[in-house]
Amino acid sequence: MPDALRKTASYEAEPGDVGRVLLLYSGGLDTSVMLKWIQERYEAEVVALTVNLGQPGEDYDVVKGKALQLGALDCHVVDAREEFAREYVAPAIKANAVYGLGYPLFTALGRPLIAKLAVQYARETGCDTVAHGCTGKGNDQVRIEATVTTLAPELKIIAPVRGWQMGRDEEVAYAREHGIPVKGGTEVAPYSIDDNLWGRSSEGRWIEDLDHAPEDDVFQLVTRPEEAPDEAEEIVLGFERGLPVALDGERLDLVELIERVAAIGARHGVGIVDHIEDRIVGLKVRDIYEVPAAAILLPAHAELEKLVGTIHQNQFKPGLDRQWGYLVYAGLWWEPLRSDLDAYMDAVNAQVTGEVALKLYKGSARVVRRSSPNAIYDPALATFAESGGLFSQQASPGFIELWSLQSRMAWRVRHEEEG
Ligand code: ARG
Repeated sequence: MPDALRKTASYEAEPGDVGRVLLLYSGGLDTSVMLKWIQERYEAEVVALTVNLGQPGEDYDVVKGKALQLGALDCHVVDAREEFAREYVAPAIKANAVYGLGYPLFTALGRPLIAKLAVQYARETGCDTVAHGCTGKGNDQVRIEATVTTLAPELKIIAPVRGWQMGRDEEVAYAREHGIPVKGGTEVAPYSIDDNLWGRSSEGRWIEDLDHAPEDDVFQLVTRPEEAPDEAEEIVLGFERGLPVALDGERLDLVELIERVAAIGARHGVGIVDHIEDRIVGLKVRDIYEVPAAAILLPAHAELEKLVGTIHQNQFKPGLDRQWGYLVYAGLWWEPLRSDLDAYMDAVNAQVTGEVALKLYKGSARVVRRSSPNAIYDPALATFAESGGLFSQQASPGFIELWSLQSRMAWRVRHEEEG
């Protein structure tokens, strides 16, 4: 059997299993070559599925036309932006979700939804197998295959890029031979891009040289801070129960709010992240992220959450936030611990209502004002002046004596012999 068709896991398809394939199709080189290759190698039918998660500048009529031209039985284009925002980005906001101190997880959040839709369309169109374009080195294969095998144990999976051992040049040659249109020139390999309404990543080329500072042409979404306007801009975000609902006083649904905040942030150079990342498959890699919406909405949310939470909640939640982000990064969206954690996130976020104003200026987004009816804050208590009543400064020494008791005793035990 040729290497490209050999299987390791029980859910991988043997050639004989494959009659009709649901292909997750982007219109790019890999999945276009795949569309032909599956028909050729497996003698199988292909149904294409393209999911719109708000990736800017995509022409879905062109993508669909290309799939049909390459022999797909059909190409379904699904606008899943609303579901993505409501069911995936919203819980991420409540969980202040960031992986490895800088990655707001836009790709990791999108994959389980894309794979869930693949399952749904595979079942509706009588497919026995799901195909995707992930390589064997990334996280996305984990997220997609974990989702498909969880939700649809009856479906098989193929990931041709993992096995076909074609490099970019061979793929371009295959495309030429099979009448697959190749976008742009073939001299330089393009960056490997993934994007949706929550952010954009670039990988490959000089990005793999850790000592190489970002070249200007990688930034296709966010204005470089040195070219951003000289005037700062202030925006006001309204939150209800942990979610942003208004921008500068105007109520917006979540998709539109994210898109508008992204546009404002991008104009001001906000949300560039140059990130070294520990992939789940063991590799350490570098990504360039452009995440203007997340770089504004996450800090705004965290600011409000901090204002309405007690010291104990504020100490405790970041550990759960980190665990939530790690599960999602690692492709375990359907793991019950994630929904257990969501229950806690929802409980805390029930109080997260109010407004946060941020000043955007040449790459920074700084909180400058915040207010909440649920703030655990009383200016009369916080002031340096004597407040009387609720807070007695005379009580403080007694508190300090007892608060420090064990620490003082331990210090003594450890330092006694020194005399
Ligand atoms: N490093 C990020 C992640 O693992 C982004 C991956 C982008 N995916 C892609 N196929 N280009 O989620």
